[in-house]
Amino acid sequence: MKLSWPAAIAALAVATTVEAIGPISSVGNKLFTPDGKQFFVKGIAYQLSPDDPLIDTEQCKRDVELMKELGPNTIRVYHVDADKNHDGCMKAFNDAGITALIDLDTFDTYIEPAKPAWTKRMHDRYAEVMDAFIKYDNVLGFFVGNEIISTEAHSQAAPFIKAAVRDMKAHRDAKNYREVPIGYSAADIAELRPMLQDYLTCGGNSSENVDFFALNSYEWCDPSTYETSGYENLQKQAKDFPVPIFFSETGCNVPGPRLFDDQLAIFGPKMRNDWSGAIVYEWIQEENRYGLIQYENPTKEEDVVNGVVRSGTPKPVQPDFDNLKEKWEQVGQPTGVVKDSYDAKHVSVRPCPEATQGGWLVKGNVKLPAVGETFTGTYESVPSATVAPTTAGGDEGTGTAANPASETQNPAAPTKVVFRGMVAGLVGVMLFFTVWF
Ligand SMILES: *[C@@H]1O[C@H](CO)[C@@H](O)[C@H](O)[C@H]1NC(C)=O
Repeated sequence: MKLSWPAAIAALAVATTVEAIGPISSVGNKLFTPDGKQFFVKGIAYQLSPDDPLIDTEQCKRDVELMKELGPNTIRVYHVDADKNHDGCMKAFNDAGITALIDLDTFDTYIEPAKPAWTKRMHDRYAEVMDAFIKYDNVLGFFVGNEIISTEAHSQAAPFIKAAVRDMKAHRDAKNYREVPIGYSAADIAELRPMLQDYLTCGGNSSENVDFFALNSYEWCDPSTYETSGYENLQKQAKDFPVPIFFSETGCNVPGPRLFDDQLAIFGPKMRNDWSGAIVYEWIQEENRYGLIQYENPTKEEDVVNGVVRSGTPKPVQPDFDNLKEKWEQVGQPTGVVKDSYDAKHVSVRPCPEATQGGWLVKGNVKLPAVGETFTGTYESVPSATVAPTTAGGDEGTGTAANPASETQNPAAPTKVVFRGMVAGLVGVMLFFTVWF
């Protein structure tokens, strides 16, 4: 069929109503779109199938249609298979202006906190995921891990997280890929915060530091407030953070219904200057009852697992779906700052945290493991390239960043990791009550 010019122009106008966003970059502690507007993540965790939800194009399209109603601009995918084709799904999301945060690790490659190692095989598998996804302009960033650390003893795995970041940034740069942000998604553990976020950005060498830090937090359980939820404290610890920081999971469902009032805080005047948004957990309804939709008419028999339907026609779970939609409508598209007038020198420099009693176990800056190394029980101390001003809690360093990081982003892991996230969330909530009541 040949279109007349006016018809062709009309068709084009319709097709571009929702615009693809294009590669997001990071400067200082903010994310920017290619046209220089600040980018705030309004995301949804999206993991329909354990191994890879981005290979079923028709399913992605059905979900995208409903997402357009809800309003996310990002999805987070915890596990993908680098050997599969993702063109159809990535295009469907891109056409709807939705970016993706992808985890480089999977069930058999993640860094095991009980006996941390960074093997050649892990390295190569992470690199393959990057190679498979870097071609999509709507990849917002990559995570090297999700909730690897959730106990005091496991804090010893932190240098391995940094080793993975270092090598994935080196891989990206060696391949001349765009400066796609590479970061980490942390469990919200009171005794390890803010040490972990500071550790992943300390030492003065941006080649070894995360490009962004993300937190899975279930502290805000509606009804709650900025002051009573614990967010006020999170904000204090994120003030002038060296790189972008955002919530990579949020959406406590206890006691329910979820009102998502935390979205108004995150995108409101008290937090939006330091936080780059939030990802709500999660799209699909599973046993844990965090879903925003449930499926009807499953397309594949094998997609009904233990009574949970994992494909088909998405139907909103109410009132949660409408509650989130309403909060995101209220938030709109926060303006933030424009890239040209943003001065990245205001970000802080975080000192490498000292070991603490009953908490963080890595002493200051240490030599990072090489590929092929397994944790031996001790680390060798090394000096930091920049000496940051030391302050109580280590969360208020206010120097000029020697090397403001210049990129950012990352993802998590399905069933198993998701479960860890929930446990961490509940532990977090319980600790909070222990401390305050
Ligand atoms: C920064 O880290 C990279 C990667 O580990 C290393 O090659 C480089 O020598 C480091 N730079 C400095 C100044 O130590």
